[in-house]
Amino acid sequence: MKRIAFVFGTRPEAIKMFPVVHAFARAEGFRPLVILTGQHREMLDQVMAVADLKADVDLNLMKPGQSLTELTANVLTAVSPVLAELKPDMVLVQGDTTTAFMGALAAFYNRIPVAHVEAGLRSGNKYSPYPEETNRRMVAQVADLHLAPTERSRNSLLAEGFAPDTIHVTGNTVVDALQWIKAKLDADPAARAKVEGDLPQPALGKRMILVTNHRRENFDTGIASVARGLAELARSENVQIIFPVHLNPNVQGPVKQILGDVPNVHLLPPLSYLPFAALMMHAHLIVTDSGGVQEEAPAVGVPVLVTRDTTERPEGVEAGTALLIGPDGGRIVGEVKRLLHDAAAYAAMSRAHNPFGDGKASGRIVEIVRRWFQSQKG
Ligand code: UD1
Ligand code: UDP
Repeated sequence: MKRIAFVFGTRPEAIKMFPVVHAFARAEGFRPLVILTGQHREMLDQVMAVADLKADVDLNLMKPGQSLTELTANVLTAVSPVLAELKPDMVLVQGDTTTAFMGALAAFYNRIPVAHVEAGLRSGNKYSPYPEETNRRMVAQVADLHLAPTERSRNSLLAEGFAPDTIHVTGNTVVDALQWIKAKLDADPAARAKVEGDLPQPALGKRMILVTNHRRENFDTGIASVARGLAELARSENVQIIFPVHLNPNVQGPVKQILGDVPNVHLLPPLSYLPFAALMMHAHLIVTDSGGVQEEAPAVGVPVLVTRDTTERPEGVEAGTALLIGPDGGRIVGEVKRLLHDAAAYAAMSRAHNPFGDGKASGRIVEIVRRWFQSQKG
């Protein structure tokens, strides 16, 4: 029986890891151990509840307004002794957060093999996304298995000199997560009606724009500029803007100040994955700087304007569903107006694709890990 430790702590890691934990729990010969750093609290708990996951260890590390330095030090200091005590056979980390980086480093310090889920995404700019681009590169340095979501991410790892037999293309587990959620909504119409009933109701004749924004590199001016652009759109266009606001105080502050009293703008607390997925499916347009939402929007066929200067996920842009527009409010107003009034431009961006995966990534990861253990015997 191989014991596989999953170290995660933020909302997006939990969303992208839960299908993998489910898959290892179903597979023969493995026992998953869930170690939460608690880098996030409420936003992590929302996912744990919907995915029906229980933590084996919860380090509960989140502090309000935490700095990168203290969080990083705290995660390493807390995770390392847990791994030393539990001695799992492998540690899985996901993506590019502080938890992923420090979870991988703690495993390395304890000489435990590391598998990196969602390996090889690169923007090429170490400050964008900040600090995630660099976190992800550093995880790669200690990973024994690189689980790349796409061919592009595999090629980036090959170009950096990682051994071909350590890199496997799996698809992104976010597609597994979204399909699981869709199936849950479809299987229970009463639950779906309840989820949808709790959301702001569609305003007659208004098109709904779903917004999320939280990137650290946009804190100084970007988030305020995005918010001013949205305010102008809410006042000048026949739209309803729904914006679940990330709990980071650097986001809450400017967003509430600029958009708090604007008609046709609904500022909501972060939503659980079920209602958020339902909103994505009903949205006319999505405006976001989120990594995960960029990957989900093509799967639901909703055009997505990405309020970032770079993306390590160009597959959505290449598939035609995403447009990289930066965090400038004026540009957002221009691009949203174009998509609201140019039906052909809107239709061209509205086809559903799955450039990031086919929903079967988690099962592939189980088999790749199984083969890795078999290869170690010989
Ligand atoms: C983190 C990740 C980022 C990821 C994002 C997803 C790093 C460096 N950043 O950024 O890659 O895209 O999560 O959302 O790993 N807070 C709460 N409750 C919560 C979550 C956050 O109150 O459930 C508040 C706290 O004040 C916390 C602050 O948000 O101190 C910042 O959280 P942190 O995880 O450091 O950064 P994020 O901006 O969330
Ligand atoms: N999400 C959610 N509720 C929300 C906003 C987003 O469940 O109110 C989901 C979204 O569907 C995606 C993930 O959270 O799967 C993205 O997380 P986030 O934007 O926090 O992080 P990123 O992907 O940018 O690292």
